[in-house]
Amino acid sequence: MAHLAINGGTPVRTKPFPQWPVYDERERAQLREVLESGVWGIGSPKTAEFERRWAEYVGTKFALSCTNGTHAIQIAAKAAGVTYGVEVIVPSYTFIATASAVLEANGIPVFVDIEPDTYNIDPAAVEAAITPHTRAVIPVYAGGRPPDLDAINEIARRHGILVIEDAAEAHGSEWRGQRAGSIGDLGTFSFQSSKNLTAGEGGAVTTNDERLFDLCYSYQNVGRRREGGWYEHPILGTNNRMTAWQAAILCAGLERLEEQTNRRHRNGAWLEEQLSAIEGIRPMRSDERITRHCYHLYMLRYDRENFGGVPRERFLAALRAEGIPCSSGWTPLHRQEAILRQAEEYPRACVPQGRSLNYAQVHLPVTERIAAEEAVWFSQTILLGEQADMQDIVDAIAKIRTHVDELRAT
Ligand SMILES: Cc1ncc(COP(=O)(O)O)c(C=O)c1O
Repeated sequence: MAHLAINGGTPVRTKPFPQWPVYDERERAQLREVLESGVWGIGSPKTAEFERRWAEYVGTKFALSCTNGTHAIQIAAKAAGVTYGVEVIVPSYTFIATASAVLEANGIPVFVDIEPDTYNIDPAAVEAAITPHTRAVIPVYAGGRPPDLDAINEIARRHGILVIEDAAEAHGSEWRGQRAGSIGDLGTFSFQSSKNLTAGEGGAVTTNDERLFDLCYSYQNVGRRREGGWYEHPILGTNNRMTAWQAAILCAGLERLEEQTNRRHRNGAWLEEQLSAIEGIRPMRSDERITRHCYHLYMLRYDRENFGGVPRERFLAALRAEGIPCSSGWTPLHRQEAILRQAEEYPRACVPQGRSLNYAQVHLPVTERIAAEEAVWFSQTILLGEQADMQDIVDAIAKIRTHVDELRAT
């Protein structure tokens, strides 16, 4: 008789995990306030309120709202001086925006590998990739986990390059008690539908540097200057402004963010502990400098060999059948068609000597291996559950481990 649900056994869980997004009267009141204010776009006090509150939450002097997290990176990159022929070091294990925004700013993404036990950019690889053409590095908080910002900041300072934190997934994550988006020179956020703070779409750039903030403002606001005239456009910018509706939803969501982040952090830490007891499942390396992890994604390492050679996709299918939603995550960016096409599309005259945009020749062994067979992801909504819900995840994985022969035999 089959035990595993994928083979007809009884699933560990049949009820759904918490739904996302959540809202209540606070969102309605905020939206009504904007509606009745008659200012729905530029100049809205609601957008200014969100920017002030977001800067306060992140712990920076400045926050600029914008259309989305992709544009936030593009704005930050341009403010950092990225333009034709300028190199920006990025991980390949991330959402496409980390690299596509660099290309949209006319820069050249230089892909480096990640650490096998954090899935975050490897500081040693960053240092090895720096050339006289490097202007910035974009460490990504993969799933919300802080990268080694001590090492990255130190390397960046020594080489005179800027650090743009891609904190799209890291609302409220902390490194030595400092919030994501406040540790490098610039921080970028996404408020897209799946994110831990969401308005459906939206983004923000944070910084302590007024010069960089002024530049971000101009790039986000059709090249206008902060104190300049309406029809004065000293630089070429586009319109990446957020609407007041988005700011309203974000102001309401901010009221819940602390409680939700602490809950995910608690559940994530509990999962790390429980799952490390299951053979063949390895949580990420613990690091006491990470004082809070917002767990936009809970990522674990699946050891196929230890599961009798069962491919990850089959393990994921078995886990879903037990009632646990999960996924395999990102495909390396240096293998994406749009990136590979840059060998022909990027203006050749702007490529620095010795730099190749033939990304097909790039080989990043850790990224390629973990993307192909190891990474397993759970979304943040799952981590909003109670401990009993986390127990179901542990029970489902333990059950599959116990009956792994059923996966091999079928
Ligand atoms: C790591 C990372 N960077 C950038 C983005 C881009 O954000 P958006 O979808 O708001 O453009 C996302 C999310 O979508 C992301 O996960």
